[in-house]
Amino acid sequence: MSDRGIRTATLGRIAAGLVVLGLVVFAGGLVPIGAAGGHTTVASWVLHTAMRRAVAFYAMGAEVPDLSAPGLARLGAGQFESGCAPCHGSPAGPSGGAAQAMLPPPPDLSDAADHWTPAELHWIVDQGVMMTGMPAWPARHREDEVWAMVAFLQRLPELDAQSYRALAYGEAEGPSRGLTLPADPPMADCVRCHGLEGRGPEGEAAVPGPIPRIDIQPRPALERALLDYAEGRRASGPMRHAVAGLNAATLSDLAARYAEAETDPAPALDPTQAASEQLARGERIAARGLPEQDVAACDACHAPSGERVREVFPRLAGQRAGYIEAQLRLYLADPPVGGGRFAELMTRAAHQLPPEDVPAVAQWYASRPPAPR
Ligand code: HEC
Ligand code: HEC
Ligand code: HEC
Repeated sequence: MSDRGIRTATLGRIAAGLVVLGLVVFAGGLVPIGAAGGHTTVASWVLHTAMRRAVAFYAMGAEVPDLSAPGLARLGAGQFESGCAPCHGSPAGPSGGAAQAMLPPPPDLSDAADHWTPAELHWIVDQGVMMTGMPAWPARHREDEVWAMVAFLQRLPELDAQSYRALAYGEAEGPSRGLTLPADPPMADCVRCHGLEGRGPEGEAAVPGPIPRIDIQPRPALERALLDYAEGRRASGPMRHAVAGLNAATLSDLAARYAEAETDPAPALDPTQAASEQLARGERIAARGLPEQDVAACDACHAPSGERVREVFPRLAGQRAGYIEAQLRLYLADPPVGGGRFAELMTRAAHQLPPEDVPAVAQWYASRPPAPR
């Protein structure tokens, strides 16, 4: 055998020996998986380097939307308070004891935006981190919602306890309009994002963002939506989180309480703020559709009353334009992500509507006064 052959054979034997040793350690149960000892410096370095490289790789090429869009950071803050702060802590307080005992411990995120690009944060928050306790986003294909969380993480470094609470709690910080805050936990949580009457957050948080008005919906529509979120038929991270652990009776009660609250008679959009040709186009499609293009009249299903209208179908008059557009995008996604039990009806309608007409229809509905419930 040549020198080279001997060397190769020796290396082969060493390699085989290492594999056998590895298998003995692995199969023999000798890998130290206990959490009490902590990771060794080497293990910790290997894991973190692997995570950093993987995140950088997968986040490559992601398109970052405008993170300063109104209401985006506000929605992120609302969900952060209930969904992330228990592990990561927040400017309003540290995480709970159980989280501090986790290994690796959930890091303080106040400077996460300095270590990760927005695209990397998006990937981590959407996908989670395997075997660390960092969970994936609770709803698939809701990149839009994950961007809201990234928008918040970017604001986090500049927030103190007070400004954080203003953002995460909105009007729920104090009784408004003479109403007392509900003491029971599920309702108190809803109020942070939807306000006491379902009109949405107020104060600094009162920007027309991605949170829908729910003061315009009758009880059956509210109840159906809540069940759809709870039973996993309708995808939304913040809503999935809000209804987790609530039973059907509690959801029905919450729907009843919001349905009894007073509807704000003002539409989301002042009609004088929109171009009149836009509104006229929107009105036409809403009321009559575009028969020559096979577009059904939206009002056939969304008006407060009518032949095909059912109380479980959501109403649109007075709703925020941004929310209407965002929901339409979800129905158009591939695979479609929008809606719950009756999603199929709406997926078909959304595909018929020419994309360039979406803003006109959204503005028309937003400019209508809500119908009585
Ligand atoms: C059950 C506890 C838990 C919850 C809930 C949780 N995380 Fe984490 N998170 C972790 C742990 C543990 C890590 C550390 C992973 C590591 O170091 O590899 C982590 C890591 C992260 C990181 C990377 C931080 C860094 O600098 O390395 C970000 C960003 C993050 N989480 C954001 C969030 C957001 C946003 C939410 C809420 C939607 C959330 N996390 C919910 C436990 C949690
Ligand atoms: C962190 C903010 C947040 C919290 C807390 C929250 N919501 Fe929501 N809610 C949202 C967002 C955002 C949506 C739109 C989700 C989507 O895209 O489907 C929504 C949607 C809804 C809808 C459907 C509206 C429609 O037009 O289809 C209902 C009903 C609702 N929420 C009720 C509640 C109730 C009741 C609670 C308390 C148990 C609650 N929400 C807690 C943010 C929140
Ligand atoms: C055949 C009946 C039908 C027609 C026509 C229809 N929709 Fe819908 N739409 C629905 C139903 C049903 C839902 C609720 C689906 C679900 O959540 O299961 C819905 C949901 C929506 C939502 C989400 C509302 C919310 O509160 O979450 C928007 C926005 C919407 N439709 C806009 C439109 C527009 C704009 C048109 C006209 C181009 C239209 N729809 C035509 C039946 C219809």
